[in-house]
Formats: sequence, structure tokens, C-alpha cells
Amino acid sequence: MVMSRKPGLIKQMLLEELAINDASPVAKVARQAAVSRQAVDKQLRHLIAQGIVQVEGEGKGSRYFLVVLSEKLSRFRLADGLEEHLVWRDLVLPTVADRGAAELAVLAYGVNEMLNNAIEHSQAKEVVVRVVRNAGSITIQIVDDGVGIFKKIADSFRLSSLPEALFEVSKGKLTTEPTRHNGEGIFFTARLFDAFMLSANNLSFMHNAHVQDGWLAQTDQHDAAGTRVSLVLNFPVGRSVEEVFDEHVARKGEFGFTKTHVLLKLAQFGEKMLMSRSHARRVFWRLERFGEVVLDFAGVESVGPAFIDELLRVLPSKKPRIKLTLVNINEKIERAIARIGN
Ligand SMILES: Nc1ncnc2c1ncn2[C@@H]1O[C@H](COP(=O)(O)OP(=O)(O)OP(=O)(O)O)[C@@H](O)[C@H]1O
Ligand SMILES: [Mg+2]
Repeated sequence: MVMSRKPGLIKQMLLEELAINDASPVAKVARQAAVSRQAVDKQLRHLIAQGIVQVEGEGKGSRYFLVVLSEKLSRFRLADGLEEHLVWRDLVLPTVADRGAAELAVLAYGVNEMLNNAIEHSQAKEVVVRVVRNAGSITIQIVDDGVGIFKKIADSFRLSSLPEALFEVSKGKLTTEPTRHNGEGIFFTARLFDAFMLSANNLSFMHNAHVQDGWLAQTDQHDAAGTRVSLVLNFPVGRSVEEVFDEHVARKGEFGFTKTHVLLKLAQFGEKMLMSRSHARRVFWRLERFGEVVLDFAGVESVGPAFIDELLRVLPSKKPRIKLTLVNINEKIERAIARIGN
């Protein structure tokens, strides 16, 4: 957590919580930012004074809402030949015409990519786009009534479970249409927005840019068919499309998506520990498509000796061209790594 940016960070986190409709966000944000409730309350008062947040009720029962500047909801029939750039131009762009070029670039990327996915992959009849513009942020939801992303991927790649499909999506360069697509849209959209949520088949994949280890996979009870994507961008934007692209290039001067970030906690698939060699092979699957792979152990408590030997010694010896970088290793995992080959 970056201490000097805390007031700004608390504001960003409040905006995200309120965007996903938590009307009493103080306790949660205090916990996530590791600050006192008073510190969060102070930032909430600033947001109210700035006209970004409104309050209903008094004292303990107070509820807080983002002041809505505009809200649009449009329903499109995919059989009519929907084109994503027209939805961007006619529905979203007019609500953010006051924002700068870097912000528009992030929004255009996310909206076009997620809509293109609904149009080209979902087998849906309809897609609904909701755009809510607030003073300090914008929330865009894209909902289709198709097969659901995790089922589509599990079926196409014959994976044994939906969480496995989620893990493969999170690695990037996963596509069911390799002749026409690269498998980049979700990977980069998830990293460009302040909050990202992808839900389908009773499973959600989420990222919050302001929480340490802000990646999450969880089951949800939303029974509707299809895929739902929510994107929240806070103003001013904290990153540019180019920066995020550049962070995923393995070697300077190279172009394209050659460096990925593997979230090992998403590979646990509900099991307590990463234990077996077969599990390590699952994690390593498709990684030869990248020049560099960051293996991120955040949220992984411990690993078994067979798993770590296979992942860090046996498999890399077969694919020596992949540069592996390990991050967020706790002491237990460090000890397991030290035992490799001994
Ligand atoms: N709305 C959706 N419904 C069903 N499946 C989806 C949906 N969105 C994405 N997918 C599946 O997830 C895969 C990954 O999506 P992603 O956007 O990351 O890559 P892509 O669309 O294949 O390639 P690119 O985005 O680079 O054009 C898709 O190939 C598709 O199989
Ligand atoms: Mg795509």
C-alpha cells in the first residue's frame, strides 16, 4: 500500500464500493485500506462536499450514493448485426465527452472489446448495455444472454471444471477462435479499469486495482444465463492503455503480448493446497506462448513438494525459452522452493 497516496486511494476505493451499490462502504474500505473508519469518513465528507456523493438518512442509518449525472440503458438484438464501434460512439462517448484522451482510450478499449466478445463469442440473442455516469466515475455493464464464458471455454478446451476455465481466461492468450482473435481483450480490460467484474455460469472473476492482491474468483448465485461484465473507471484515470500494454512485453523493443501474469491462487480450484505434478502441468499449460511469465503466489499459503518441483524445475527444463519470475512468495513457499533438487 502506498502511504503517501492514502487519501486519494481511500477516495478511489469509496467510489468503487459505491459504484457497485454498497450504500454503507465505510467499514469495508477502512478494512481494505488498513486505516481507521474516521479516516475513511473524512474522505467520504469530501466527496459529499464536492457533490460526487449524496447522503440519505442520518446518523448510523445514513446511506450513501454516487450522484448520478446520467444513466442510459439500451437493448440490442444481435441478429440485427450490431457493430461495437457504433455503440461506443452513440451510447457511451456522449456521456464522457468532457474527459481527456487517455480516459477515452481506456473506455473505448474496454467497451469495444467486451461488446465484441458478446457479439462474436456469446451466441446470445440480445445484449444490454447500461452506462451510468457519475461526477467522479463511470460504470458500464454489458450483459448478454448467451452460453456464458466459462462454460464456453470449459467445453471448447475440454476442461474438467468452470474454475479451470476462469484460470485459463486469467492467463490471457486464450481464444476459442484463433484464426480471428488473439485472446487479449479480457486480460487487458481487467487491468485497465479500477474495478472489473466478469460473471457467468454462477462464477465471478473480479479485479480491484486499489486493493493489494485485488484478484478474486468466487461463486455467485446469479442464475441468469449469459455473461455479465461490469467496468468501473474513476476520474482522473491512473494508467494509460500504452502503459498497460508495455508492462506485458517481455523484452524491450518487442511488440505484442509476450509477458503474462499468472495468479496461482486462481489455480487452486477450491482445493486447499497446490500439491500434485498433474496440477503443476495444468498451471503450466499454454505458457510457452509467452517469453516471460510472472508466477504470482499472492494468496497461496503453501505448496506441496511435487507441485513445486514440477512447476519450477521439470517443466521449465522442457521449455527453457520461458523466463519465469516469482513474486509474492511467503516463507513456507520459499522453504519449499529451497528444497527443490535436494
Ligand atoms: N460474452 C462471452 N460469451 C461467451 N464466451 C465469451 C464471451 N466473451 C469471451 N468469451 C470467450 O472467452 C475467450 C477470451 O476472450 P478474450 O476477449 O480475452 O479473447 P478473444 O475475444 O478470443 O480475442 P481478442 O479479444 O484478442 O479479439 C473468447 O475466445 C471466447 O471463447
Ligand atoms: Mg475479445
